[in-house]
Amino acid sequence: MTRTLGLIGSGQIGGNLARLAARAGWNAVLSNSRGPETLRGLVAEIGDRARAATPAEAAEAGDIVVVTVPLFAYDRLPRTALSGKTVIDTMNYYPQRDGSIAELDADALTSSELVQRHLAGSRVVKAFNSITAKHLLNLARPAGAPDRSALPLAGNDTAAKAEAGELLNALGYDAVDIGDLSGSWRSEPNTPVYCFPYGGELPEGLGQEELLQRFFESPGAPVPARRIEELVGAAVRGPAGGLM
Ligand SMILES: NC(=O)c1ccc[n+]([C@@H]2O[C@H](COP(=O)([O-])OP(=O)(O)OC[C@H]3O[C@@H](n4cnc5c(N)ncnc54)[C@H](OP(=O)(O)O)[C@@H]3O)[C@@H](O)[C@H]2O)c1
Repeated sequence: MTRTLGLIGSGQIGGNLARLAARAGWNAVLSNSRGPETLRGLVAEIGDRARAATPAEAAEAGDIVVVTVPLFAYDRLPRTALSGKTVIDTMNYYPQRDGSIAELDADALTSSELVQRHLAGSRVVKAFNSITAKHLLNLARPAGAPDRSALPLAGNDTAAKAEAGELLNALGYDAVDIGDLSGSWRSEPNTPVYCFPYGGELPEGLGQEELLQRFFESPGAPVPARRIEELVGAAVRGPAGGLM
């Protein structure tokens, strides 16, 4: 039976996940804050497998649901409609965008633990948070391809992580289980695995601005599972939150 990916948030990451899902033969139900009519163009581009709905409808329709909104909106996610579901959380904490969140600033919780607390009836898995939207789309490969990349995932529920791993596999990625949500800081901003490895080798000696420009211009370079394991293992916990 055709599976359905629900998406709450249909911006850079949500839109590309919907594209990958449709390519993989899944249905995609997209939603945002402004209403289904504002997603008409994106849905038309993705084609027959996509439709737009409200966040609660996308939650109900999804066999798995991805929540991919700015973290400041986490407490507006429809907890009742998401109850009982495996929910993939792609969100990262950027205080300049999201405002300061005291529990995150104190490293008392990870951002995904905050999301799990709000979505108490859901099984939250953090994934797709440590690759840019462009590289996510460009680096997807079929299972077994020699240049297939891996992505880290974290969660408290083993069965939900297995489901998330199946989704990653369908969409074009191997999965590396990095533990539970309390350890998901290992794939957050300012850690070795976060986004930059997928930009490939960049010349040494570049200034910060040029480095970022080259990184964002890069079409992406594959990062296999064993490299993800090394990078995650090298993470050291620092202050939470990235700089925009
Ligand atoms: N961009 C990346 O490369 C990247 C990479 C990894 C992780 N992330 C993380 O993934 C999340 C999404 O990033 P993005 O770049 O895709 O963001 P984005 O392009 O700004 O899109 C955000 C989406 O969330 C929707 N949204 C906002 N508030 C909502 C609400 N209350 N209910 C339903 N939908 C809502 C927006 O809809 P409206 O436009 O209608 O408000 C929009 O569709 C962020 O937490 C980000 O830090 C991003």
